Amino acid sequence: MSQPPLCRIENLSVTYAGAAHPALDTISLSLARHRSLAIIGESGSGKSTLARRLAGLLPANAATSGTVVWNAGAEVQTDTTFPRSGRDIGYVFQDPGASLNPVLTLGEQVAEGAVRHLGLSWKEALSHARDLLEQVQLPHPSALLKAYSHQLSGGQRQRVAIACAISARPNILIADEATSALDTITQAAITSLLDGLVRESGMTLVFITHDIALASSLADDIVVLKSGQLVEAGKATNVLSNPAHAYTKSLIAAHLDLSTPRLIESVP
Ligand SMILES: Nc1ncnc2c1ncn2[C@@H]1O[C@H](COP(=O)(O)OP(=O)(O)OP(=O)(O)O)[C@@H](O)[C@H]1O
Ligand SMILES: [Mg+2]
Repeated sequence: MSQPPLCRIENLSVTYAGAAHPALDTISLSLARHRSLAIIGESGSGKSTLARRLAGLLPANAATSGTVVWNAGAEVQTDTTFPRSGRDIGYVFQDPGASLNPVLTLGEQVAEGAVRHLGLSWKEALSHARDLLEQVQLPHPSALLKAYSHQLSGGQRQRVAIACAISARPNILIADEATSALDTITQAAITSLLDGLVRESGMTLVFITHDIALASSLADDIVVLKSGQLVEAGKATNVLSNPAHAYTKSLIAAHLDLSTPRLIESVP
């Protein structure tokens, strides 16, 4: 029997104060457990708004309607506070420089989530942070605990940001264009890291990307947004090999025009 979805979103709308149109317009979709969902669409289509709504991180000027039900259909719903940002949901932002604090050591930043949400002492949490830095494949993790973000490259900073996001062992990891500020080789390494984390830990991954090739290589499921509307949703292989909507076709065609045979190869 298939598991109930981790989250069911029904008729979700989000409108920012003063905006002529809603940023999200009556969106409905389900988030499956232990799978990775790619949210794709052009700039301004509402991808980050959807991710922030899931994480409870919308700003005060956003008015929302509709329902977001977590653990829908689960027999026991004991924890009414689920999900809590930081504890249950880790969030990785596009710009790793902006998400790290320049005056705190990397160890303090990675350990903080474990102190706050797992109840570890600082000593225990720093040891946990060292393990996390190793898990995100950073060299010399013990020395890095005492280092600062300016001492790292962009790709290394993004690895630290991922370590911070998974410090409290969240069920859900949201990556909002986590690789788009990086060079192609580093993008591939971070993508493979995210993929490994999801497969190993059973986390549910929601990632936002403009890059349809990235979506094809990492996502189990895909949602396509256009001007705040959901135009397509389904299994990644189906959506990419047999897109139903003209907009999705144009996104795929735009990618193929630009470049490589990677997408063709990755779609069975
Ligand atoms: N904090 C905000 N206040 C007001 N309007 C906002 C805010 N954040 C986003 N918007 C508007 O909501 C719409 C959707 O924005 P959103 O950031 O969700 O798009 P996006 O798909 O993530 O775009 P991008 O690919 O450029 O990151 C846009 O019209 C944007 O200008
Ligand atoms: Mg965005």
